[in-house]
Amino acid sequence: MAKISKSYSCTSCGLVTNKWAGRCDGCGDWNTINESKALSNGPQKVSIGIEKGEKILLSDLSPSIKNLSYSKSGIAEFDRVLGKGLVSSAAILLSGDPGIGKSTILLQAAARFGEAGLKVLYISGEEAASQVKLRAKRLGLSTAPIRLGSETNLRNILTTFEDEEPNLVIIDSIQTIWADTVDSAPGSVSQVRSAAFELTNFAKRTGAAVIMVGHVTKDGQIAGPRVVEHMVDTVLHFEGERGHQFRILRAVKNRFGPVDEIGVFEMASEGLAQVKNPSELFLSERGKNIPGSVVFAGIEGTRPILVEFQALVTPSTLGQPRRNVIGWDGNRLSMVLAVLESRCGISFANHDVYLNIAGGIKINEPAADLAVAAAIFSAKEDIIFPINTVFFGEISLSGAVRQVSQVDNRLKEAQKLGFSEAITAPRNKKKPKDGINIRETVNLRDFVNMMHKYKDSTEGLGDGKP
Ligand code: TYD
Ligand code: MG
Repeated sequence: MAKISKSYSCTSCGLVTNKWAGRCDGCGDWNTINESKALSNGPQKVSIGIEKGEKILLSDLSPSIKNLSYSKSGIAEFDRVLGKGLVSSAAILLSGDPGIGKSTILLQAAARFGEAGLKVLYISGEEAASQVKLRAKRLGLSTAPIRLGSETNLRNILTTFEDEEPNLVIIDSIQTIWADTVDSAPGSVSQVRSAAFELTNFAKRTGAAVIMVGHVTKDGQIAGPRVVEHMVDTVLHFEGERGHQFRILRAVKNRFGPVDEIGVFEMASEGLAQVKNPSELFLSERGKNIPGSVVFAGIEGTRPILVEFQALVTPSTLGQPRRNVIGWDGNRLSMVLAVLESRCGISFANHDVYLNIAGGIKINEPAADLAVAAAIFSAKEDIIFPINTVFFGEISLSGAVRQVSQVDNRLKEAQKLGFSEAITAPRNKKKPKDGINIRETVNLRDFVNMMHKYKDSTEGLGDGKP
């Protein structure tokens, strides 16, 4: 038999080492290295043998394999994020901060899938069945055809599944499930890994879809090993700011549909309600005639979304001025500041810069560069930009403004919401005839000049030429 050696692993990132340390080399966390019982060193000096495997021709797959089926919950925002709907035998991981509404949305979706004819099992490891029932009552779903269970033992859960033959199972949450074959506490890396593995396996074997809830750590990572994210077909993030009622469901990995597709919800007293017109919502609290506020015409997945960017630039008393960002990438902000400084001569050395994306949405698109630069410039120079204008365009280190994708979609959405002008990079295409007025800017210096001119003139931006 192979010799069993000691091994240690990190409970937060899963790094395996052969000696204990106070700080993990992988993720830098303290006190996360624990001894783990290694199974063995694996088979040694055993050849792989000459046993024949099964050969499958790709073109032959279709007749012998069960066709995948798509089911829709009828909650359009939820179905869109999944792709065409819920795919049979899919393994889905839904992650998000505590209290963001993961259990709520899943209960609501489960009820709709149940009504659509799927056999749904909802296993809660965190709440008692009566608590889940109470929540269902609050959501007006007490008569929904879902079966509830409160269980954490993986063996019991899988046995129930084999008997019940469900079409959809929901596990809330994967961190509470423990396998009796694994010798560590629930929530530890090895438990989470083996629970996720067994459940994914169950999905593939039986054709049931499995949705697992995953906790996130302080810095927003899905707790437990990254390997779970690789194992499942789809990873969804449920995000939103604490003080806001908006919640955004985002696909970050999807084997059956587009990624970065978002669904927008609003947390109300009777659960999560769909937001059909996100742009209207994100602009609803927009301050007019305030320097530092501009509107960005963005694209999330396949959908155009308009959001307000707010910037504040104040003299700093600190040796190292503050750069605070909510909803955007801090590194990208530093880059935009550096370009403004070196290409346009606007100095931020003695200024704190704050940037906030209104509504609690997170924007990842580089297309937002120009809107960020515009908001910061507007705040710094105290210029109120025209309120009927949207901004988009990527900024390169040279200061050039580059064109981005899906321009027509962005413009259409802006027009729909009553905007009459867009400031962006030069386009190859002729502008649409009855469309919105497009003001092209080749580089950031151009843009800054254009805006200074605007401030000095009384009749706005003039004849449409920068
Ligand atoms: P929950 O789904 O339990 O969050 P998670 O499972 O992600 O931890 O949501 C809890 C929060 O949602 C809680 O703070 C209260 C709020 N909430 C409402 O505002 N309205 C509702 O109808 C429900 C059920 C919850
Ligand atoms: Mg919950």
